[in-house]
Amino acid sequence: MTAETVSDAETVSDSETVSDAEAVRERALASLVTARERTTLLTTCVDGPELTAQHSPLMSPLVWDLAHIGNQEEQWLLRAVAGQEAIRPEIDSLYDAFEHPRAERPSLPLLSPKEAHRYAAEVRGRALDVLEKAAFHGTRLTEAGFAFGMIAQHEQQHDETMLITHQLRRGPQALTAPDPGPVPLFTGPAEVLVPGGPFTMGTSTEPWALDNERPAHRREVAPFWIDTTPVTNAAYQAFIEDGGYDEPRWWTAAGWAHVRRASLTAPLFWRRDGGQWLRRRFGVTEVVPPDEPVLHVCWYEADAYARWAGRRLPTEAEWEKAARHDPATGRSTRYPWGDADPTPEHANLGQRHLRPAPAGGYPAGASPLGVRQLIGDVWEWTASDFLPYPGFRAFPYKEYSEVFFGPEYKVLRGGSFAVDPVACRGTFRNWDHPIRRQIFSGFRTARDASRETS
Ligand code: AVJ
Ligand code: FE
Repeated sequence: MTAETVSDAETVSDSETVSDAEAVRERALASLVTARERTTLLTTCVDGPELTAQHSPLMSPLVWDLAHIGNQEEQWLLRAVAGQEAIRPEIDSLYDAFEHPRAERPSLPLLSPKEAHRYAAEVRGRALDVLEKAAFHGTRLTEAGFAFGMIAQHEQQHDETMLITHQLRRGPQALTAPDPGPVPLFTGPAEVLVPGGPFTMGTSTEPWALDNERPAHRREVAPFWIDTTPVTNAAYQAFIEDGGYDEPRWWTAAGWAHVRRASLTAPLFWRRDGGQWLRRRFGVTEVVPPDEPVLHVCWYEADAYARWAGRRLPTEAEWEKAARHDPATGRSTRYPWGDADPTPEHANLGQRHLRPAPAGGYPAGASPLGVRQLIGDVWEWTASDFLPYPGFRAFPYKEYSEVFFGPEYKVLRGGSFAVDPVACRGTFRNWDHPIRRQIFSGFRTARDASRETS
């Protein structure tokens, strides 16, 4: 069902209502099951000591993510939706992300790997009982299965977080996946002109969209050019070879201060070896593939590259217009390719692969104007701070989005190879500090078109 065809409750018959509810129940069940299969893989492919170790001060021990996933599910599906009593009230504060910063989580009296697996499984068993009997109307929390969708997305977001921990972890390879198929050399235009004018940004109809994606509102955007594909490793290497990291004029003042203080000379996980660049990826070292989108750069690096290239990062509104605006109809679609849910032909999502596909891949996922790989492959830094849309209302809790609004965080769009489709759409917003680059982050660039077109 597309956003445009959501049935009007006034006009549907009882039997249609029942089948709608069954479709919601099925989608919620499938999303929860898919998430748990991935969680299980990520928390069983290494042994107990690897689950309790802290592999980076930026990350929680994997066993924390596992029990936190269970604890969030307990709080929302068992307590808030079903009114159940806490299973283990004493552990709530251990798994409250705001009470304990990541660096201190390994010293907490956390559940052991065995206990954490048991706890998450017990919560899940009860949550599936709640789902079986749930009605999907009456409260905002259960409307269209929102709470179940929110919890499936939450688990998938922590699965991506755990995959980042696996990437940071030292030691032999624990995860494998087939590489994306070969991509014919992309020979199309390097950039695409997106016409100026208003478009609809955000959504009020996507049932599982999170609070920060709402509400739908009109946004005026001047005409601009945007890269057809994300910036590649080869292009980024040219910036490095040109002395980009030694040239203050490409960097903002804060970016230059950071690049000096942190001694940055290349993306995270890269290492110079004679005449070539190598990178470590999930325990394997390889030559940096020239045609893949660059990965593991911070906002400051993306911004400096763009300036060096005579360009700039797209604003968040520009990115979303490139991804959702259909010039033929004037509507905003759910994805670049239209309103259909993502399939493996559209985008590199869901950890099917452990790397982005080469630039120019996924022609079936292109936007009407021909912009490729907006969804999947790499998260794309935008120029914009993370701010609420006009009419924003925190739901169901302020700590999901509201407490992060402001200039400390930059928005990333589009999702990476490590995002599940349930947590990825044309309106989905991610955010992080401009110095962060352990995330699966890349970017594409843009430039104004107002001087040449109208
Ligand atoms: C939206 C990815 C920034 O991981 O901090 C997980 C998602 N929120 N649990 C994060 C989230 C609460 C969030 N990001
Ligand atoms: Fe969380």
